[in-house]
Amino acid sequence: MHSKLLDEINEKGYIILENFLTEDEVAELYKAGRTLCLEAPKANRKIFSTVKCEDAHSKETYFLESGDKVRYFFEEGALNEDGELLVDPMCALNKVGHALHVEHPTFEKITFSKRVKDICWQLNYNKPAVCQSMYIYKNPGIGGEVIAHQDSWFLHTEPNSAIGFWFALEDCTLQNGCLEFIPGSHKSGVHRRYLRNTDKQARQLMMYDRPAPDYPQNNFIPLTVSKGTCVIIHGNVIHKSEPNLSRKSRHAYTFHVIETENNVKYSEGNWLQPPENKPFQILFERKN
Ligand code: FE2
Repeated sequence: MHSKLLDEINEKGYIILENFLTEDEVAELYKAGRTLCLEAPKANRKIFSTVKCEDAHSKETYFLESGDKVRYFFEEGALNEDGELLVDPMCALNKVGHALHVEHPTFEKITFSKRVKDICWQLNYNKPAVCQSMYIYKNPGIGGEVIAHQDSWFLHTEPNSAIGFWFALEDCTLQNGCLEFIPGSHKSGVHRRYLRNTDKQARQLMMYDRPAPDYPQNNFIPLTVSKGTCVIIHGNVIHKSEPNLSRKSRHAYTFHVIETENNVKYSEGNWLQPPENKPFQILFERKN
């Protein structure tokens, strides 16, 4: 089947859908994200950083076991050496993940909405499944950089089928670390993988299989989008976001979808593996 959306993602590697969410939906998701801040742990807080990934959290089973749970990851700048908060608890989290779409009714509702299913249908998915979800805070001052990456580094399938749904819950600007893309870069294959360490004796539980590629800064185009916008992200398109240098947060909700039919195989090496009794939830099954 041909569709305008399919043409667009095949050409650029991303699609911008303005006003995808109603104002009420944005407010409901934003409120749920704020409420999660109040539910974050008060002890044994864990940080998340894509820059200092190996030092900060790779050794932590907290992250590895978060695939089917709601877990809270703090900004590096939000905690002192003893794990005590240095900032307002409402501005301390980097993200919450990775099963909000299963464990939280507000996020489940939008993830499994008819609008989302329609997009997957138009993108020719036959039996799409949601494999993870995250609420991202990008807090003012401490909201860290997300290094240039392809989502297929983390959610690899053979052949590649991952796409991201990314919902802006606040306006995204150059100052607060909007998404930036290299248009067309999804045509260049998968450059790196983030894998579970097969060495069970190793202290490091997850690792990259090769160093970070160097992508020229000039090739990135910033997406300054308004709240309510949905950005569809091809699994192989290179994207990143700069630190939030503004005085306002830049909240977003995001989840990822993979194909589970057409002989598409979810890679065993991926850090995220569904527990045996909890397979990834299916959005729909296309009947021919
Ligand atoms: Fe990403």
